[in-house]
Amino acid sequence: MNESILITGANIGLGKETARQLALKPETKKIILFCRNQAKAEEAKKDLEEQTGKKIFEIIIGDVSEANSVRKAVEKIKEPIDAVILNAGGMVGKTAAKITPSGMNELAATNILGHVILVDELIKHNKLRKTVLSVSAEAVPGVKALGMKPVAMKTSSVDEFAAVLDGSYFGNKFDVTQAYGYVKYVTSMWTLSMARKYPDIKFVVMSPGNTKGTLAPNNLPPPMKFMLKNFMMPIVFPLMGGMVHKLEVGAKRFVDGISDEQYKSGVFYASKEGKLSGDVVDQSTFFTSLKNTTFQDNANEAIHRFIK
Ligand SMILES: NC(=O)c1ccc[n+]([C@@H]2O[C@H](COP(=O)([O-])OP(=O)(O)OC[C@H]3O[C@@H](n4cnc5c(N)ncnc54)[C@H](OP(=O)(O)O)[C@@H]3O)[C@@H](O)[C@H]2O)c1
Repeated sequence: MNESILITGANIGLGKETARQLALKPETKKIILFCRNQAKAEEAKKDLEEQTGKKIFEIIIGDVSEANSVRKAVEKIKEPIDAVILNAGGMVGKTAAKITPSGMNELAATNILGHVILVDELIKHNKLRKTVLSVSAEAVPGVKALGMKPVAMKTSSVDEFAAVLDGSYFGNKFDVTQAYGYVKYVTSMWTLSMARKYPDIKFVVMSPGNTKGTLAPNNLPPPMKFMLKNFMMPIVFPLMGGMVHKLEVGAKRFVDGISDEQYKSGVFYASKEGKLSGDVVDQSTFFTSLKNTTFQDNANEAIHRFIK
């Protein structure tokens, strides 16, 4: 049972809906909304209080793409937290390929850098009790219907993972819709590595599936955004079946991921092969690189090359 939960990117989309659902659980005593913008965070807090009738929300300001911002945020956390949901992220938009002071590009820094520092710091200061849920995506095994190929790294060496993080892996052709899957793969492998390193903490990876009602499509390249908003989401996916669901359903995967004992540490859960909605399954049953413990540890080591 998780009494206190921190959620990154909790002011909108899946993070906010997860906060709403968790607040309605009787055991929940505190939810920390970890957001980068004070005004947006205040607005979300007010709305969540109105929707749930609970005054259990606290705000911590931090930008997950900036190392020191996250370190400062952790200093403000005084009591140990039961569970952390590493949700902030997405495709970032036009600046995805831009190199940040860490040396990672913005896509990787947003989805990975601050989350890894957050967890490292919480563990170092004995402020994390039970569970870490990393948010990944079906983009890792690939989404054929959206032209997203499965992640296929040649060696999964530390150097190769580091090249994904600084973007050099993609050469001059940085296609964010492909790079996103690689970045979520690194996130997932880091989480699986941490599950072995810290057996007393549950480290689980969960994809929300293809979820309507978030701001994620706004960060897609214009042609894909147009196709997704006008054809795939309203027409094609509903006809195909098992390809899209409501915000409540996507967020419930995160709630279950931290609350339900059937979801085990060291497993990446997402939709069945070829699907984007419905039941979740262990992705390593068909995407077998996830089982490789050397690859997992290589991802962890590569990330730490960028953390000074
Ligand atoms: N929606 C889907 O179908 C889908 C599918 C698979 C995976 N996912 C994953 O689910 C997670 C949530 O996505 P979503 O669809 O809910 O997207 P969203 O509606 O765009 O919400 C993203 C959240 O992340 C925050 N964020 C972004 N960059 C940040 C930073 N540098 N520091 C702190 N917070 C930051 C945003 O804050 P601001 O409001 O300040 O920008 C916002 O609160 C992401 O990791 C995404 O990759 C989503």
